[in-house]
Amino acid sequence: MEKPDIKGREGIKRLVDSFYDKVLKDEVIGFFFTDVAAINLKEHLPKMYDFWKNMLFRTQSYGRNAMMPHLRLNQKEPLQPQHFTRWLELFDETIDSFFSDPVADEAKHRAKVVTMSISRNTAAIQSGQIDVRGLGL
Ligand code: HEM
Repeated sequence: MEKPDIKGREGIKRLVDSFYDKVLKDEVIGFFFTDVAAINLKEHLPKMYDFWKNMLFRTQSYGRNAMMPHLRLNQKEPLQPQHFTRWLELFDETIDSFFSDPVADEAKHRAKVVTMSISRNTAAIQSGQIDVRGLGL
């Protein structure tokens, strides 16, 4: 079947909504969203549309800091390797249903880079290599 064209904002919205449908009911990571951060979807999803539009099509639509919310989350409930693995699994599944290669490969690669960067920081905080007092969390 032909993969949908997701270039416009409507397409990105479908991609992100579909990812969050999986994430929110996921047994491994869902609770970070529903309980630990208790996100307000109406506020959260538009940020994610902007973020992914920027990531995939370099639209300059996201100017926030994506790292800090995850470091704050990690203070409430440690983010562990299995959480990152699961996040990536769900993301890759979603991407594959929307894109064909090479865009799919690029999107998955970029998500992996961000995952590594978040997990490097959270692991360093958990092991005491980074002192959170200096981070203003
Ligand atoms: C285990 C992995 C992850 C978990 C459990 C997780 C969870 C969350 C939660 C709960 C929030 C909302 C925080 C708040 O508003 O208080 C959030 C925000 C966000 N996440 Fe993640 N996340 C993960 C990995 C990632 C990755 C790999 C990316 C990017 C590729 C990402 C991108 C974002 C962005 C852009 C925001 C919005 C930040 C903002 O502008 O406020 N997340 N995440």
